[in-house]
Amino acid sequence: MSVTILNHSLVKHKLTNIRKKETKTKDFYQNVSEIAGLMAYEITRNFPLKEVEIETPICKTVQYEIANDVVIVPILRAGLGMVDGIRSMIPTAKVGFIGLYRDEETLEPHEYYAKFPDTIVNSIVLVVDPMLATGGSAIAAIEMLKKRGCKDIRYVGLVGAPEGIEALSKAHPDVDIYLASQDEKLNEVGYIVPGLGDCGDRLFGTK
Ligand code: PRP
Ligand code: URA
Repeated sequence: MSVTILNHSLVKHKLTNIRKKETKTKDFYQNVSEIAGLMAYEITRNFPLKEVEIETPICKTVQYEIANDVVIVPILRAGLGMVDGIRSMIPTAKVGFIGLYRDEETLEPHEYYAKFPDTIVNSIVLVVDPMLATGGSAIAAIEMLKKRGCKDIRYVGLVGAPEGIEALSKAHPDVDIYLASQDEKLNEVGYIVPGLGDCGDRLFGTK
C-alpha cells in the first residue's frame, strides 16, 4: 500500500480554483475534470506493459502497450466529475458505477446503485471520488468491489482528510491511494478543512 500526494504546480493551481467559494458550477466542473486528467499521468506511471510488434513508416519494431484493461468506478455523485478527465487520458477505459450517499447525521455510507462491466474482475480498477473525509464511502465501495472478485484496486481522490486516509489505509492496506492534497482535518460535521465544501452540490449546482 502507498499514499501518493501529487506535488505538482498545475494541480495545486487548479485545486485553488475549486477551493474558492466564488467558483461557479461550470468552472468548478472543468477544473475537477482537468485535475483528474493530470492525476491520470501519475496513477498510470507504473502500470504493467506488454510488448507489441508494430510497423513504423521505417521498419518493424517491438514496442509497449498498457497490459491490463482499466475500469474507472466513480462513487456517485461527486466521483462523476473525475471520469471525463481520466477517460481523456485512458480512452479505452470502461466505466462502472457505485451509488453511495453519506447519512448527514451518522456519516455512515448507504448503497443505492451498482453497475459494473463484466471484465472488471481482471482489470485495474480506479475508484474515483473527489472527497475522502471519514473514509466510510471509499471503504464501503472497495468492499463491494472486492466481494465481486476485483483484485487490483486503486483509490483516486482530490482532497483527503488525515482521518480518512488513515481509515482507508487500515481497512484496505492493499489499495494504493492517490490524492491531489492532504488537508488539515475534519470539522465537527464531517467536512474537510479547508476543503472545498460539498463537492457533489458544487459540481451539479444543487445548492
Ligand atoms: C461525499 C463525497 C464522498 C463522501 C465522502 O458524497 O463525494 O462520496 O461524501 O465522505 P466520507 O469519506 O465521510 O464517506 P455524499 O455522500 O455527500 O454524496 P454526493 O456525492 O451524492 O453528494
Ligand atoms: N463530502 C464533501 O463533499 N465534502 C466534504 O468536505 C466531506 C464530504
